[in-house]
Amino acid sequence: MNTRTFRNKKLIDRDKEINFLLDWFNQLPELILWVYGPKSSGKTTLIEYVVEKELFEDFENLKPKGNYWVRYVNLRRKLISSYETFLESFIKPEEEYVMQKGISAGVSVAVFTLKAEILKQVKERKKDLFDALIDELDKKVKKENKKPILIIDEIQTLEEIYINGERELLKEFLNFCVSLTKETHLSHVVILSSNTVFIDRIYNDAKLKKTSEFFKIDHLDKSIVVEWLSSEGYTEEEINLIYDYLGGCIPDIQRMMMLKDKYKSIKEYLEHRAFLAYSQIVMFYHQGKFPKEEIEIFENICKEILNNGSFVLSKDRDSKYLEVISKWAEKEILFFDPLTLEVKGNSRIYEKGMEKLEL
Ligand SMILES: Nc1ncnc2c1ncn2[C@@H]1O[C@H](COP(=O)(O)OP(=O)(O)O)[C@@H](O)[C@H]1O
Ligand SMILES: [Mg+2]
Repeated sequence: MNTRTFRNKKLIDRDKEINFLLDWFNQLPELILWVYGPKSSGKTTLIEYVVEKELFEDFENLKPKGNYWVRYVNLRRKLISSYETFLESFIKPEEEYVMQKGISAGVSVAVFTLKAEILKQVKERKKDLFDALIDELDKKVKKENKKPILIIDEIQTLEEIYINGERELLKEFLNFCVSLTKETHLSHVVILSSNTVFIDRIYNDAKLKKTSEFFKIDHLDKSIVVEWLSSEGYTEEEINLIYDYLGGCIPDIQRMMMLKDKYKSIKEYLEHRAFLAYSQIVMFYHQGKFPKEEIEIFENICKEILNNGSFVLSKDRDSKYLEVISKWAEKEILFFDPLTLEVKGNSRIYEKGMEKLEL
């Protein structure tokens, strides 16, 4: 395990994932790369590290490594309620944008520029936005010899936004991504999401499945947690206890390190967290107004997770079960892997909370 420094903090491990991404970017773009995994597993942190430290020589001054040309957008950080706000947020007139000073690297890297005249045509709907972007990328590759990489986080934000009130923005955007990879090989496209109900839809769309690769970023493996916590001075017994309650969830472990001294013992802190997870589950029972049948299904799933480590959805994808799983996944209490059909707690602490349901 390597420990790197990123934004003045320790970046734990992720060697395997960093190498995977760098290898991926070294190849000709053929497929869209979907990066998925439980909420808070560290997807955004990893991709931001790769962008800032591996794809740029000097990120603050926007000096890329080699010929990379990177655009990274986290859609959650923008308020996008319509196609117009999407355009306003990300597409700027080239002539004005290069003149503005004092724009941070993080903002610049999230913006596409088009010639003012072309942007005007796009706004007047005389030209298709994605056609204009493809022309731009084609120039970058063929005239400037660049290697474009587009990275989009929290893609599900684009759902239910329409262009001219009819065409779905998300669909058009994904067609654009297919075109950039499989059809023209102009640019890498990486799309991130914690929302596996959304990923499931993509995975089961015949066309997208054929043109996509899926890469899971999970919580840390036990061996890495052992290495990390040993280096912080924890004993073997403590590490086993911590792993039992928190698994490899990085922010949960970081929080434990910060707060444990306020409790009599690590065990007391962990029990407190498990109780909070339990109360969250019980609160949703009341708030969610779940019919009795759905509570039964949820509890069956919990029992199976507690007994066997995970619940596996049947191959015929029992629709009632899938519906219940979706609801609890949206609350970030369950995590559903659409590739393996496995269901677990979104993080280990929810499984400790499930234990308290006494099923
Ligand atoms: N490799 C890592 N090293 C240190 N801290 C991390 C690491 N990965 C994630 N974190 C911490 O965990 C938190 C959640 O990670 P994030 O990247 O937002 O998860 P995700 O995007 O998968 O929901 C972040 O605030 C970050 O501080
Ligand atoms: Mg994220």
